[in-house]
Amino acid sequence: MKSVLITGGAGFIGSHVGQALLKQDIRLAIIDNFNDYYSPQFKRENIELLYKDGKQSGSLCLYEGDIRDKEFVEKAFAKFLPDVTIHLAASAGVRPSIVDPELYVKQNIVGTMNILEAMRSVGTKKLIFASSSSVYGNNKKVPFSETDNVDRPISPNAATKKSCELLCHTYHHLFNMNIACLRFFTVYGPRQRPDLAIYKFTQNIIDGKPIHVFGDGSTMRDYTYIDDIVDGVLKAVRWVDNEEKRYDIFNLGESNTITLKQMIEVIQAAVGKRAIIIKEGMQQGDVERTYADISHSKEVLGYNPSTEFSQGIRAFVEWYKSNRM
Ligand SMILES: NC(=O)c1ccc[n+]([C@@H]2O[C@H](COP(=O)([O-])OP(=O)(O)OC[C@H]3O[C@@H](n4cnc5c(N)ncnc54)[C@H](O)[C@@H]3O)[C@@H](O)[C@H]2O)c1
Repeated sequence: MKSVLITGGAGFIGSHVGQALLKQDIRLAIIDNFNDYYSPQFKRENIELLYKDGKQSGSLCLYEGDIRDKEFVEKAFAKFLPDVTIHLAASAGVRPSIVDPELYVKQNIVGTMNILEAMRSVGTKKLIFASSSSVYGNNKKVPFSETDNVDRPISPNAATKKSCELLCHTYHHLFNMNIACLRFFTVYGPRQRPDLAIYKFTQNIIDGKPIHVFGDGSTMRDYTYIDDIVDGVLKAVRWVDNEEKRYDIFNLGESNTITLKQMIEVIQAAVGKRAIIIKEGMQQGDVERTYADISHSKEVLGYNPSTEFSQGIRAFVEWYKSNRM
């Protein structure tokens, strides 16, 4: 039986990946500190879902603690001895990283270093690292390709993700670790983080409250539905689980751009109500557009996203109405 450890497994992406893994014949462990970046109760509910959904609580174990605590991380790794680690725990979000860059450096860079060191000390060698489309900054060339130069980040979040990709490469080179860095492009769907625009807009439109729209509505995002991300992560798990020494970076997006204006229209249609819009200036650190070239992920991983944006938004709004109202 394979064993997989997910850091940040109580969160949005981690809990979906965990659910998918529990359907397979694996032992699963989760490290999470249930921080209050958003309601820790939502994260507890995600864990409950994992126990219930998998109906295999025997194969799920939870290590509650902080990845910044080196000793805690090493003990968890020594006890569980994962074949594969999926490292998702981080401070996510671009705008909050401008307010508290030190937190991002500690959570993301020191936290990732602790994971890599724990892997080295127990001799486990397969890692998936959650990077971000934010590393592309205001890349002019579209779609964004993994071979594009990403030495000009425009937020602390992006700078820490890029730093982690570099650390991952170093550990791959020095200690023969197989590592896939996955650059996620704005992930959405049921259980998504409440700090993200799709969630906040849906909530406010339903409640008849105004939504704050930054810029003129022309900024574009490549929104990726959670099921497609889970599919990409599982394919990356298979890719790192190989005897051959491997390191690579993969874009996980839909390769389809939606403007902010279109996004609001699609949410309005799914909710069946018009938004009250308050226009604001562009936010510092926000990029103008994200757009993933996924040809490399398709070719190497067999990644093949298939969720149309309006379909994904309908699924999200349905989930929101049944679970958050
Ligand atoms: N959601 C997106 O659109 C998106 C886009 C790009 C990259 N990512 C990356 O994917 C990963 C998962 O994102 P998500 O949207 O599921 O976020 P999330 O906040 O829902 O999940 C992160 C989880 O990590 C845990 N965590 C954070 N710091 C920790 C620490 N120091 N020790 C232990 N646990 C800790 C949190 O409690 C949370 O449960 C993150 O690394 C994020 O940067 C997400």
